Amino acid sequence: MIAQFAPMNIPGPLILEWYAREGRKLPWRDTTDPYLIWIAEVVLQQTRIAQGISYYYRFIGRFPDVRSLAEAEMDEVLKYWEGLGYYSRARNLHAAAQSIVNEYGGEFPTHYKALMKLKGIGPYTARAIGSFAFGNATGVIDGNVLRVMSRVLGDASPVNQQRTRERFQEIIDQWVQGIDSRGFNHGIMDLGSVLCTPTKPGCMICPLEGICEARQQGTTHLLPVKEKKAARRIRFFFFYLIRNAEGDLLIRQRPPKGVWGGLWEIPNREVAPESWEKRKQQQEGVFLFSGKHVFTHFDMQYAVFDLAEGLGPLRGDELYVSPEQRERYAFPRAVLNMLEEAQVR
Ligand code: ADE
Repeated sequence: MIAQFAPMNIPGPLILEWYAREGRKLPWRDTTDPYLIWIAEVVLQQTRIAQGISYYYRFIGRFPDVRSLAEAEMDEVLKYWEGLGYYSRARNLHAAAQSIVNEYGGEFPTHYKALMKLKGIGPYTARAIGSFAFGNATGVIDGNVLRVMSRVLGDASPVNQQRTRERFQEIIDQWVQGIDSRGFNHGIMDLGSVLCTPTKPGCMICPLEGICEARQQGTTHLLPVKEKKAARRIRFFFFYLIRNAEGDLLIRQRPPKGVWGGLWEIPNREVAPESWEKRKQQQEGVFLFSGKHVFTHFDMQYAVFDLAEGLGPLRGDELYVSPEQRERYAFPRAVLNMLEEAQVR
């Protein structure tokens, strides 16, 4: 059911006209190659545009098409993802590239429902590829678009609820019927990002001002509504810098699945929250610093110690590396930050 006040396909022409004048020129908008669009969208799920552009160029410079990605070693793919975080995205890119080559003869499926069968491709990415590469008449809803829609519709349903998203998807799919879906979707994203901002939106120069319910009702600043999330969990960890007589650093590879799967780290252990302070006092070695790293599902509170002595014989997943050798291994952002702060050369 579409809400009665939903301006059916009125926003379309207004957004297209505005996009032609004011839209941002971005490298992945010059192409309809589904591979390049896919990579751009997945990178942009991890970072802002400015940093995204350099990761995008670096990644497609090394893996210019789906075959080169499918044939690459996982470790190298992770190296090109290093610093972006959420490494399951890189592993899914690799797995999906292999499916596209092995099951689809190297050609992307064109319908979003088929795209969604590929690893790591959810409704957002499937619709983005469907629209930007194949011109499918489907709306692409990211956080910016949710904000624009909740204001244009004057709709106070929580935008972080699945039900709201599904309803908005039906409405935007109406808006995009019969018009250039690429231009529309890029346009509504840009509008959300440059004009319809969370605070101080530029309503005076917005092409949707005349049809925006929130503008008419004076509720722009109250929308979108988000439902409160539960408090975030904090987990506590000690990390250890361990060097051998040559000054080489002990690193260790994570198991392939789970948090930081397949990446390299320095030895560490989780500590129960209630014993964190006491164990920190008792921990041998030199305390260097503590810090916090924010993950999707929890915050990591960490303390880093310099241990003069090794921990005994190396495990199978451990090795000592010189600074030059270290360049070849992919580390999570949190560990890179620790090494930098500890000024490990
Ligand atoms: N963020 C995510 N996808 C984007 C795109 N295609 N253009 C601009 N910003 C984006």
